[in-house]
Amino acid sequence: MHDQLASLYPAHLATLREHADHALAFGGFDHFVIAAGTPLRKFLDDQDYPFKVNPHFKHWLPLTDAPGSWIAYTPGSKPKLIFLQPRDYWHVVPQAPDGYWVEHFDVVIVRSAADAVAQLPAGNCAVIAADGDGVEANNPSTVLDYLHWHRSYKTPYELALMREASHIGARAHRAAEAAFRAGRSEFGIHLTYLAAARQTDAELPYSSIVGLNEHGAVLHYTNFDRIPPVHSRSFLIDAGASAAGYASDITRTYATPQAAEFQALIDSVDAAQQGFVAKVRAGQSYPELHIHAHHVLAGVLREHGFIRMSAESAVESGVSSAFFPHGLGHPIGLQVHDVGGFQQSERGGSIARPAGHPYLRMTRVLEPGMVVTIEPGLYFIDMLLAELREKPVSADIDWAKVDAFRQYGGIRIEDDVVCTDGTPENLTRDAFAPT
Ligand code: GLY
Ligand code: MN
Ligand code: MN
Repeated sequence: MHDQLASLYPAHLATLREHADHALAFGGFDHFVIAAGTPLRKFLDDQDYPFKVNPHFKHWLPLTDAPGSWIAYTPGSKPKLIFLQPRDYWHVVPQAPDGYWVEHFDVVIVRSAADAVAQLPAGNCAVIAADGDGVEANNPSTVLDYLHWHRSYKTPYELALMREASHIGARAHRAAEAAFRAGRSEFGIHLTYLAAARQTDAELPYSSIVGLNEHGAVLHYTNFDRIPPVHSRSFLIDAGASAAGYASDITRTYATPQAAEFQALIDSVDAAQQGFVAKVRAGQSYPELHIHAHHVLAGVLREHGFIRMSAESAVESGVSSAFFPHGLGHPIGLQVHDVGGFQQSERGGSIARPAGHPYLRMTRVLEPGMVVTIEPGLYFIDMLLAELREKPVSADIDWAKVDAFRQYGGIRIEDDVVCTDGTPENLTRDAFAPT
């Protein structure tokens, strides 16, 4: 892995430099300055929230824990890393930079945040930073739009890290499934997941969703019951992992052998999901794929006897949205919900969502190098079912069947998929495959 990253990194950095050159030229700037970021202090407290690095900083180098450091780049010159190694005996001080990427930077070690700022270039800078980073940021939209657009197309170096994030996630998912089958609580499964990933909660790209039985119906369930239910029937886990700041985002749903009717529904959603993954191809409109998913999932509802109307009328009347109430997926990379999902061009602009689909996070046409999630679901959500029951279409729904499935919560199957020139690369399924 290390040798592979070392060989891929120079081309990655060359791509970033080229993008920065164009972005600065567009915006009329001479220098590019990126803050790693500053830990955020909790209100009326002396403790900080877990540190989250500026995604633009970790795009340039694999450092996710270097608060107070900066990257400075002037087109035509070697980029500079101003690395803060504070004089501090209370905390672990960040290690001096080491690794395959270091030779590509002029590294300056400083001992205070003020010394770091003093090292930044003077003049006409595009400053990508947050409030409180010690320098007035301008975050120019011309520069950010350009960079966010091009961040959609992953370099081979980035794809190597995303494969690694997927492998870590798959390893931890397998451990979590075993914990479910052993009857552990949500909290116990969560701890099992962290241990197998060898990552802390704060290192994960997002808070894990670990829901047994009915809890699978809460889309972002993060409560972690400490006591196992009397009977664990079903299990939905949406949990990812990080590799040098790149994310994986994986969901699986399981049933016990006693819940064969639910397993059959999982199998249908899984087959549908693999059909959508196969359509992650250059030229495919993502919103059209989302609408296609509604039709296929409505067909699954009909096939399993939940609805009696045609798939078309289930989509038109909003019935499919009551069971599948979120988007098909989103771009992923340095952030689990990566930037640029709605962007019209490298100059900015926004592509609207299709009417009636307020939660879709990706409206672009797929192109090689993009990585998106494909995460269809079917859920039995009390609030949405109560609304559905009041509508005229209610007559064409088998409520006894629907009610019998509330005890299982819901199903989501989520993979991270690379659009290529040909067959899509499914990072998640590849990571789960036995080697
Ligand atoms: N884990 C959040 C999502 O799937 O988008
Ligand atoms: Mn997702
Ligand atoms: Mn997810």
